[in-house]
Amino acid sequence: MSLLHLPPPSPSRLTSLRNSFSVITLNSLRVSSQRCRFNQSRLTLTPTASLTVDSHSPTTSSGRGSTEEGDSPKVLLEVRDLTAVIAESKAQILKGVNLVIREGEIHAIMGKNGSGKSTFSKVLVGHPDYEVTGGSAIFKGENLLDMDPEERSLFGLFMSFQSPIEIPGVSNMDFLNMAYNARMRKLGRKELGPIEFYEVISRKLDVVNMKIDFLNRNVNEGFSGGERKRNEILQLAVLGADLSVLDEIDSGLDVDALQDVAKAVNGLLTPKNSVLMITHYQRLLDYIRPNYIHIMDDGRIVKTGDISIAKVLEKEGYKAISSA
Ligand SMILES: Nc1ncnc2c1ncn2[C@@H]1O[C@H](COP(=O)(O)OP(=O)(O)O)[C@@H](O)[C@H]1O
Ligand SMILES: [Mg+2]
Repeated sequence: MSLLHLPPPSPSRLTSLRNSFSVITLNSLRVSSQRCRFNQSRLTLTPTASLTVDSHSPTTSSGRGSTEEGDSPKVLLEVRDLTAVIAESKAQILKGVNLVIREGEIHAIMGKNGSGKSTFSKVLVGHPDYEVTGGSAIFKGENLLDMDPEERSLFGLFMSFQSPIEIPGVSNMDFLNMAYNARMRKLGRKELGPIEFYEVISRKLDVVNMKIDFLNRNVNEGFSGGERKRNEILQLAVLGADLSVLDEIDSGLDVDALQDVAKAVNGLLTPKNSVLMITHYQRLLDYIRPNYIHIMDDGRIVKTGDISIAKVLEKEGYKAISSA
């Protein structure tokens, strides 16, 4: 059996890693590594917008989380008038984003290249390249923008980056074990040692159709584009999340890999958790069906609708939508 080919990691290696990264867990490691920067100051922002649930936001009747009429699912994420600049140049990219995501919903953000989609997702996870200059983002009732990337991750926000980075010297197995335990600590659940964790993770590999030897390789080192994306979804499968932000998980994937990734994402959905997919292309939406599609243009969401928007886009391009 293939399981036998990979020895579990040695406990001593894991302990030393855990010590050296004692305060660096999933998102902070993942976010910071995107810039090779492991320390960053907190983003601070005083929310200016009210926390009222938007009565104009899309109805929830088609959401997986919908219950009886009048008993709509809880709001998971509420973004109000969010503005952000690039930290270095102060160029404004987000110009007032509004978005409400409830439990059990799948949302997609589409838009032309350069419209601010990736910036929005990175701002949500606290990427240090960007500075929030106004508005609010409330996640599970708490001010997301007051949390550092690590806290956001532990609190249940997962992000799959458009270009997942390599983390030299850290094996996938060790990385996932550390991140998993950090999340379990936060949830008040049992942490797992390397041998117990090995059993958990080996069961998850099938979800993304990955071979067991991926676990011993350093995070994303030498992985193909498709393998990186599968690896991101493996991380999600192991860690779980209330909201998963998936930035272009379809990019660079052939049809087989796309189907594997989509199947894995669909398999992780529950009536309680939500997905925010960011994609340039319609084809992903054939595999993961969103309840709502938002069109982003020049740092704002300019239109929200159902899957029919994607059909218009496919036929007539973004011009038809932006000028509508
Ligand atoms: N870290 C950055 N440094 C400089 N420019 C950036 C940075 N991040 C985003 N931008 C610029 O902001 C705009 C929006 O980019 P992005 O959010 O990646 O768009 P999208 O994901 O919709 O293609 C682009 O013009 C891009 O060049
Ligand atoms: Mg992008």
